[in-house]
Amino acid sequence: MTKATDPRAERLPVTLPRLAEMKAAGDPIVMVTAYDHPSAAVAEEAAVDLVLVGDSGAMTVLGYDSTMPVSMDEMLVLARAVRRGLSTPLMVGDLPFGSYEGSNEQAVASAQRYIKEAGCDAVKLERGGASVDRARAIIRAGIPVMGHVGLTPQTATQFGGYKAQGRTADRATQIAEEALALQAVGCFAIVFEAVPAAVTAALVEKLEVPVIGIGAGPADGQVLVFHDLLGIYAGRTPRFVRRYGQLKSEMVEGVSRYAAEVRSREFPADEHTYGIDAEELESFRRYLDQESLASSAWDW
Ligand code: KIV
Repeated sequence: MTKATDPRAERLPVTLPRLAEMKAAGDPIVMVTAYDHPSAAVAEEAAVDLVLVGDSGAMTVLGYDSTMPVSMDEMLVLARAVRRGLSTPLMVGDLPFGSYEGSNEQAVASAQRYIKEAGCDAVKLERGGASVDRARAIIRAGIPVMGHVGLTPQTATQFGGYKAQGRTADRATQIAEEALALQAVGCFAIVFEAVPAAVTAALVEKLEVPVIGIGAGPADGQVLVFHDLLGIYAGRTPRFVRRYGQLKSEMVEGVSRYAAEVRSREFPADEHTYGIDAEELESFRRYLDQESLASSAWDW
C-alpha cells in the first residue's frame, strides 16, 4: 500500500462534515464497535472512520444475555476506556435501554453524560416514533445523534425477535418513514440493521445522510460488532457477519498452552526471570540463616 492509498497515513480526526462528504463522494464509511482500550486501539490503528461503543457490549463483554440490562453507568465505564484508545475515528456512545425513552429531559441528560464523562463525539438511539422526539431534543442540546432503524435489539420482542425487518411493503414503508423523520430532526447518519438489501438501496438514494448498514446490504457504510468480526466468541453469528479472524480459538489455545507449561514447569524459563548479584544474594542468605530470624517471626 502506498502512502497515498493507505487510510492510516496522516489521518485527521473524522468529523460530521467529513462523513457527509464521504456520502456525497460515494466513499464507503467504515464503522466498528469497541468496548475497551485494546479494541479501541485496534480500531484506531486499522483506520476506521467511526467507532460505536455499542450496547452490544452488554453481551460481548459484560456477559448479559441481551442488551436490555446494561446501565448507563456500565456503558460509561466502557466508553471511557474506548476514549483513551482513540484519537481519529468519530466516537459514538450507544444510549442503552431505559436511558432515553422516558422523556426528552432524560434523553438529553444521558447524552450529556456520554459527552462530559466519557468524551464521546455523538450518541446513537434506536427506533423512530418517540425516539424521533428524543433525537430532536438531544440535537437541540448541541449533541450529534445517529439513528438506528430496522432490527432494533432493544425492542426486538415487539417485532418478533431477532429477525430481518422491512420484508413487506408496509414494514419497509415504516422503516422509510422512521429514517426520513430521524433525518428531518437532524440525525447525522442512520444505522439500518437486518433490512433487505433492495429496501436499503432504495432508501440510500432518498436519504441525504449516510446510511450505515449491518445486515442491510451495500449502503453508504458498514458496521460490524468487533467480537463477531474477529470471532472472539464461539457459537452462532447472524448471517450478515463475515468473520475476519478466529480469535476465540487462538485465545483458548494460548491460555491452554500457558496452563500446560506452568504445570510442567516449562514456564517461566530463565529468560523470564530477573537476576541478582552473587554477593548480594549471599548476604541475603546470611540474613535468612540468622537464628534470631526464626524466633522473631511471630514477634509482632
Ligand atoms: O450495539 C451495537 O453493537 C449496535 C450495532 C449493531 C449497530 O447497535
